[in-house]
Amino acid sequence: MTLWGGRFSTKLNEQAWDLNSSLPVDQRMAIQDVDGSLAWANGLHGAGILSDAERDSIVHGLNLVKREFSSGEFVFVPSDEDIHTAVERRLTELIGVTAGKLHTGRSRNDQVATDFRLWMLGAIPELDSALINLQSALVEQAENAIPHPQPFSPGGKGVPSPTGEGKGEGLAIMPGYTHLQRAQPILLAHWWLSHFHPLQRDRARLKDLTARVSILPLGSGALAGTPVNVDRAELAESLGFAEPSQNSLDSVSDRDFAAEYLFCATMIGVHLSKLAEQIVLYTSAEFGFFELSDAFSTGSSLMPQKKNPDVFELARGKSGALLGSLTGLLATLKGLPSTYDKDLQEDKAPVFAATDTLLAILPVMAGALRTITAKPERMRAAIDSTMMATDLADYLVGKGIPFRETHSIAGKAVRAALDAPRKIGMEEISLEEYQSLCPAFEADVYQVFDPLVSIEKRNAIGGTSLQAVQMQLDGVKRLLSFEKS
Ligand code: ARG
Repeated sequence: MTLWGGRFSTKLNEQAWDLNSSLPVDQRMAIQDVDGSLAWANGLHGAGILSDAERDSIVHGLNLVKREFSSGEFVFVPSDEDIHTAVERRLTELIGVTAGKLHTGRSRNDQVATDFRLWMLGAIPELDSALINLQSALVEQAENAIPHPQPFSPGGKGVPSPTGEGKGEGLAIMPGYTHLQRAQPILLAHWWLSHFHPLQRDRARLKDLTARVSILPLGSGALAGTPVNVDRAELAESLGFAEPSQNSLDSVSDRDFAAEYLFCATMIGVHLSKLAEQIVLYTSAEFGFFELSDAFSTGSSLMPQKKNPDVFELARGKSGALLGSLTGLLATLKGLPSTYDKDLQEDKAPVFAATDTLLAILPVMAGALRTITAKPERMRAAIDSTMMATDLADYLVGKGIPFRETHSIAGKAVRAALDAPRKIGMEEISLEEYQSLCPAFEADVYQVFDPLVSIEKRNAIGGTSLQAVQMQLDGVKRLLSFEKS
């Protein structure tokens, strides 16, 4: 049984049948297909197409079908071309010929677009929770990197200055990089949180996308609209959509939401890849900033000493396929005229695959991040005095000299340290030598080479000072608790 055999004299070629069949992919939307049909049955009843008894019989049958799907008892048969056919075939077996009235005024074109959107409306919150979990892991690590996190109080009270004698203990600091070259010292907590914000944007993007997914195609027919006098606004509401689509030609062809979803997934993948790349670097012996827990590392079949960051490499690697799914779907859509074309059947596999990939990576990455041990002494040791050269230039700015000049003077001081017979730190250059570079230097110049002093100066909103990071931490925690509830 196909839904379309009437005008054909021979059966479809077997291999063509296999090519055409979408059941292996779209059976994933079984529940959504039944829910769409339940709503349509009610719509047909409201339009006077189904009698009370017919509607009740169809609703009863569909609920049985749904139960079979939920319990895993549903049995597909070889003639099930797609999930829509399978549901109607089973409904017919259960309730008889009345089932044949369900497809009145409906097409698989508006049906499949409805199922797909319904499915996505369920998938977005799942992704969101997985993202929240990863964000929480980052926040926990940021808190670990601050000795005694205290609630931020406006005006800065309650946040002790980490500088000065004996202060800053337990506060993890590290080199910040640009061009992967040592640049300026930063708080480790600031680094962890730098990976929180991209995920927050990803979540905002998914939420924003929801509004465009939540448009109901059902009631558009094959392309021209439905002759059934159905209240589409009511239909939309009953299925949890925000509103019905406004143009039937567009609504059976619109897959913008699928492309956007894949963009969101790809962007998440890019963010995960960036984070993963840094973890891979920082766990190398050369950096030695982080150690992974054994539970989230793997070994080598050949080299007994190896402890590999596979989890992060896979996150980095899988983001490539996410990007591929986005470009693949866009290329498919680009060639199409308007309304439904069978090419559109190719929309679901990449969306499902991208979802599965993210739902596989995100929890593992969160677990791996939570169990990372930071090595503050290694990070501290990687900060060398030249990273405070900017602070040296700023010191002279404080003495009234224009930054353009102080930049050059500080550059000369860096040169002097590097050129010394035994390479020396900038704090080892004598005061006389500093004064020969610029007479404005005084004995207090040596304070600038304390990385904590450098960090504490960056106290404007978004900077790396303890107070600014504490404020940031409070902000992101508020975001998380607000959105979790
Ligand atoms: N399996 C199809 C898809 O996924 C359902 C719609 C089929 N429509 C049609 N006119 N053959 O797009």
